[in-house]
Amino acid sequence: MMNILSDVLHALREDYPDLEYVTQVKSGKEATVHIVFAEGKYMALKVYRPNTKNAARGSYMTIGGLDKRSQRALVNRSRHGLKLERELWTNKEFEVLTQLNSLGAAVPEVYGTVENAVLMEFIGEGQAAAPRLADVKLDLETAQQIFQTLLDNIQLFCELDIVHGDLSPFNILVLNQKPVIIDFPQSMSLRKNPLARERLLRDLRNVFEYFETQLQVEWGGVARKYEHYLDNIMY
Ligand SMILES: Nc1ncnc2c1ncn2[C@@H]1O[C@H](COP(=O)(O)OP(=O)(O)OP(=O)(O)O)[C@@H](O)[C@H]1O
Ligand SMILES: [Mg+2]
Repeated sequence: MMNILSDVLHALREDYPDLEYVTQVKSGKEATVHIVFAEGKYMALKVYRPNTKNAARGSYMTIGGLDKRSQRALVNRSRHGLKLERELWTNKEFEVLTQLNSLGAAVPEVYGTVENAVLMEFIGEGQAAAPRLADVKLDLETAQQIFQTLLDNIQLFCELDIVHGDLSPFNILVLNQKPVIIDFPQSMSLRKNPLARERLLRDLRNVFEYFETQLQVEWGGVARKYEHYLDNIMY
């Protein structure tokens, strides 16, 4: 197998000639995240893996403008389909982050994309990646602030017609007592994707469940409010 990482680094050096590889942060289910150093700062480089089995099913439903062959390849998950899927995911993550950056959402700043990789702001201190929400214990005041910021951001995403689709305390980092939401390849259109309603409610519920005990917020009560909101904006 060709060395994907070295190809990615090579391509990135066209824009960042001084880019240096530092180390691997973490290998997740569909991508590996690395630290690189360029222009005087650490950056996170997320490289999608070939042959990802764990495709966010249905995410390609959001992608228009594909020819029949490509659509078939995606559905059949052929070699061509898997390559295409990886490129689509990479583009999706890059585009969504770009859009959200420009509106000041709590997401990493995005610098660029090549092939199957996205270069973005490294959320952490020095070379130490920020912990995930799932891994921290918050004091009451911080918990309240983070909870509110997350709800505001989910609302902002909705206004931009974006549903994260895999939001949970594992895809939220905490730096300086503030949340940063990551991992957008499976995000989808709120209005166009038939799965979006269910995913949005699941995203919200995952966030609520994390804070439930500490903040005494209850999902049941607000679920109705969101159902109502969704009824009013959908279709
Ligand atoms: N911009 C970033 N800054 C710092 N660390 C990051 C950044 N992006 C990702 N990470 C780290 O890499 C991990 C995996 O990233 P991400 O969730 O985007 O990929 P994934 O393939 O979906 O992984 P997972 O299966 O763990 O969800 C994160 O949990 C986090 O620890
Ligand atoms: Mg993740």
